[in-house]
Order: sequence, then structure tokens, then C-alpha cells
Amino acid sequence: MCGIVGYIGKQKATPILINGLLSLEYRGYDSSGLAVIENNSIAILKDKGRVSNLEELTKNCELTSHIGIAHTRWATHGKPSKENAHPHLDNSEQFVVVHNGIIENYHELREFLTQKGYHFLSQTDTEVIPNLIHYYYSNGIADEDPFLRAVKSAVDDLKGSYAIEVISKLYPDKMIVVRKDSPLVIGKGNGENFVASDIPAILSYTKDFYLLDDNEYAVLSADTIHFYDNTLSEHSKAIKNIEWDATAAEKNGYEDYMLKEIYEQPNAIRETIGSHFTLGEKCSFDDLSIEKDYLSTINKIFIVACGTAMHAGLVGKNAMEKLCHIPTEVDIASEFRYRDPIIDEKTLCIYISQSGETADTIAALKLAKSKGAKTLAVSNVIGSSITREADYTIYTHAGPEIAVASTKAYTSQVVLMVILAIYFAETLNSCDTSELESLKSDILDLPSKLEAVLDETRTIERFAKKIYTEHDMYFLGRGSDYYVAMEGSLKLKEISYIHSEAYAAGELKHGPIALIENGVTVISILTNPNLVEKCISNIQEVITRGAKTLVITNQKLHNVHFDFVVNIPETNSFISPILSVVPLQLLSYYIAKNKGLDVDKPRNLAKSVTVE
Ligand code: M6R
Repeated sequence: MCGIVGYIGKQKATPILINGLLSLEYRGYDSSGLAVIENNSIAILKDKGRVSNLEELTKNCELTSHIGIAHTRWATHGKPSKENAHPHLDNSEQFVVVHNGIIENYHELREFLTQKGYHFLSQTDTEVIPNLIHYYYSNGIADEDPFLRAVKSAVDDLKGSYAIEVISKLYPDKMIVVRKDSPLVIGKGNGENFVASDIPAILSYTKDFYLLDDNEYAVLSADTIHFYDNTLSEHSKAIKNIEWDATAAEKNGYEDYMLKEIYEQPNAIRETIGSHFTLGEKCSFDDLSIEKDYLSTINKIFIVACGTAMHAGLVGKNAMEKLCHIPTEVDIASEFRYRDPIIDEKTLCIYISQSGETADTIAALKLAKSKGAKTLAVSNVIGSSITREADYTIYTHAGPEIAVASTKAYTSQVVLMVILAIYFAETLNSCDTSELESLKSDILDLPSKLEAVLDETRTIERFAKKIYTEHDMYFLGRGSDYYVAMEGSLKLKEISYIHSEAYAAGELKHGPIALIENGVTVISILTNPNLVEKCISNIQEVITRGAKTLVITNQKLHNVHFDFVVNIPETNSFISPILSVVPLQLLSYYIAKNKGLDVDKPRNLAKSVTVE
């Protein structure tokens, strides 16, 4: 929920820290700060608001340090303010810490430290950490590495989730990092090392990364990185070379990341289809060895996720049930983890998460594992926490998604879920080969059809101009079109702050139609030929009551007048959401732009929800 960066090396730390924070701003942006060791003492700069405020502060002081830590915050404990912004110092100003996550027992720890004479300057849970480190450092036993020992003793006291960076003026050439249930990567350079919550933040400096594990410590100097487990015994660790292009994480001339990511969808789909199949050959997943013997024992699939990823799961459910004949349920991760679901070794649980760091989704995965089910993660981030917990992992290849509102990750998740369903169906022989071949052919045509949908952008832009001042909108659909309606409604709320609801069109008469009055905008998705007539009747009902209508369809609609129609190419109904969602993404984008909003960083939201 917050973003952290660290640097130790030979260059000036401050510009690298600021650059890193700017690319992590999607993780939180209510305040930011940095700490460097300057002339044997710790210098801290912090401010409320965007990283640009912090950047301004750095221009007014000459910081030459080669070591520093930095943080961009999304408030959990304590309001967004300068005093609550990280980094936080201990009372003696010897140790300084940035932290991502939540310390659940901080009240208890604060009380303990207060009794020992410590005082606190912020309302944050984080401030207990540097003070605990100081407490253990000053009361510690003789040790060959007292700094590391003190950090470890402090961390042993913490309950909750954390990614922590610590530096000390007593050790100006050393940085200690540790994580649990919160992401942290270390980038290895030449005579310099980097730390970040997420790879894109430091991708322009290095492509060689260590992915820190839970309860693992790393001690960094400019030239070395040592890894320790939670008993402080040292071990070696494999380095990963990340192939992402650094420019892929930049805007490439687009006004916003969200627009860039919407336009990247044809390619994201192409990359995600990758080499999973060619026509006439069975689907394959290189790293997925799910045997027929195991798959035939599965009598239930749960697809579990949050937000947009959950909407992708709903579309995936259709394909799983129809192609594989396995009953499939979709759950919201935060509900699933507490509702005591019926799970056993005959259940397969699939978890979809773009970031792979969503706290509820990871907890829901751990729950299913503890009940004996096999778990499969669908993620966009190689080595993310969820992929390390799951029994199996498959990846979308959407590339880094920076905008808070998910677009290309969603369409990539949908296509991958459908390919997975085909793979299962082929393994189980549960579906007619010609049906699967025709679906595969439609999947291969998706990138060019997406390009055609993107050519319709102007129509959407015009419609957005007409309606951007409205306060309520409604989205309707049946079957998969209803799931797309849910996603369209979420997108609109997220970035344009307009209240909206998605309804299964058949539910209209059971209550929501009471909300329809003159001039209200109703957006409908009509792509399933079997349901079109029924849906049109529902739209007629709202037209009669004065609604303004936008229809997104791949059907020829006669004898009905809609205010706006966006035609999209026809395709198999399992994958039509990949095409029909795009006009809705563009609509919320242009509405937000007309309102002058920051589409990439909507208020109150963060890209990765790494706390419950
Ligand atoms: O990283 P994840 O896919 O696990 O994230 C899940 C949701 O937080 C995410 O999809 C959220 O709903 C997006 N902001 C939607 O645009």
C-alpha cells in the first residue's frame, strides 16, 4: 500500500530515490519522504502530498550522500500529514526506518517502549520500529553484528505485515532490509545496490534482481549483498534476470499511463497467448504439470480474487463450467477467507492477482492450502508473493501496469483463464474438439479485433463529453455481458468518482428500475445472440422512462433507437468481454479527463492493496 526505495553505492542517492518514488507513486501518494546519511548524521526530508512536493524540497538543499531510503505513503495508521510521513527516526536519532505494511501489535509495543522512556512524534504504527531497534541495540548482548542483531530482535516483536528498510548513522555503509507478507526486491548493480517495493522503480538501473522471501534479511553495502534467514544464518540466493524493458514502464508519449495501457491491450493479449497453442495442436503450459489423473478427481473449482481480477474470474467461470463441466464458484477474497468455505483435496482453487501482492487474495490462498486443496495462481508479476505460495502458477504477460485502474491486466487475465479452461478441457476430453478449435481461432484473432475497437475511440470521447457532469449511471447486461457491466461500473467509480451500479438486466424490474428517470444514463452491453432480444426489452423499459442510452454491441440491432451505439467485432462469447470492456475503459477515462481528474492516481486508491 506504500512504496519504498533504497540506494547504496557511489552515485548521489537523492535523485535515484526520487526517481524510484515517482514510479512507485501508484502505491500511495498522500505523503512521501527520504532519509540520507549526510556528514555523520541522518538528514530527513518529508512532506504531505505528491512526490513532486518532496522533489521540490530536495532542490533547496545540497544532499551528497551515497546511501538513502525513501517512502511514498498511503495512510493506514494516522492521517496523511508531514509528521506521519516516513522515514521515522528513533528518539536518539541513530536509526531511521521506512516501512510498508501494518504492525498489528503496535499499541502494545508503543506501551512497552513508553514504559522504557521512549516518546513518539507520530500517530503511525511504524515509529515503534526504529525505537525497538534502538532499545535492542543499547541493551543487546555483544555480537559480531550488533546492528543486524538489533534489527532482528525488533522484527521478532512485530506482528503483521512489513517490508522494512533501516539505515543508521553508526553504520553509514550498510543498509538492512527484511520483509514479511509485503513485497521487496533488491536490484544488484555494479558497485551499487538498490531496493524497491516493485521492480519498475529500479528497472532503469539494473535488470538483475533478488526477490526477498518472507522472514528473510538482506544486508547491503555498495559492493555486497548478504542474505540471512530468521535465525540469522547466512545463505546464498539465486539472482533473477528480468527481461522487462524499462521504457515499457514509462508513458511513451501518452498523456497518462491508463490510456497507454488501454492501447497496449492488443499486444498484451498477443504476449499472453504467447506459445500456449497453435491451431490444430493442444494447449500447453510449460510450467504447469497438471495431470489428467489429478484433474479428473477435481469436483469443484473456486476462483478467488479482488476487484477487477474478480471480474475476470467471473468470465473465467463461464469457460470452466461450459468447457470442463466442473462446477465453478467465484468468490471475493476478503469474503472467502472468513466464510469457512467447503474445501478439500478435490477442490482446485484459482487465485487471480495482477500484482500478486493483494493481502486478502494471498490469505485466501493460504486458507485453501491448509484445507488440502491445490492452488493455482494467475499473476502478472514474476516472483510475486502469491506465485511463491501457490502450488502452480501461470502468468499473464501484460507488462508492468502502472495506472491504478486495471485495464490490460483484466483483458489478459480473461484470455488466460479461457486458455486454461481449454487446456483443462483438452486434458479431460470434456469438450468437442471442433468447438475448442473454433474458440482458439477466435482467440488468435483477438489482437486485430481489439485494434478495431480502439479505432472507435472518438465515438466514446464524444459520448463522454455529453455525460461527464452526471452523478449516477447504470450498466446492464446478461451473462458475461453482466460481468463486463460490473467491470465498466467499477472503472467509472474508480477514476471519475461518479456513482454507478451494474445490474443483471433481468433484475431491473425487481427494484432498480425505480431509479430510472428522465435523462439518466444507462449503458448496456449486448453481445450474446441468445440473450439480445431479452436485453433489448429491458433497455426499452428504461427508454420509456426517459433514460439516455449507450449500447455496446456486436449484433445488428433493428427498430430500436439508442442515443449512442458502439459496434464491436463479433467473436466467441467466452472472450467477447475482452472486446466489449474496452469502450467502457475508454468511457471512464474520457469522463475523468473531462472532469480534470488524475486518472492514474485516483483519490483514496492504491495499486497494490497489500493490507487487509
Ligand atoms: O493486484 P490485484 O489484481 O490482486 O488487485 C486486485 C484489485 O485491487 C484491483 O483489480 C482493483 O480493483 C483495481 N484498482 C481495479 O481497477
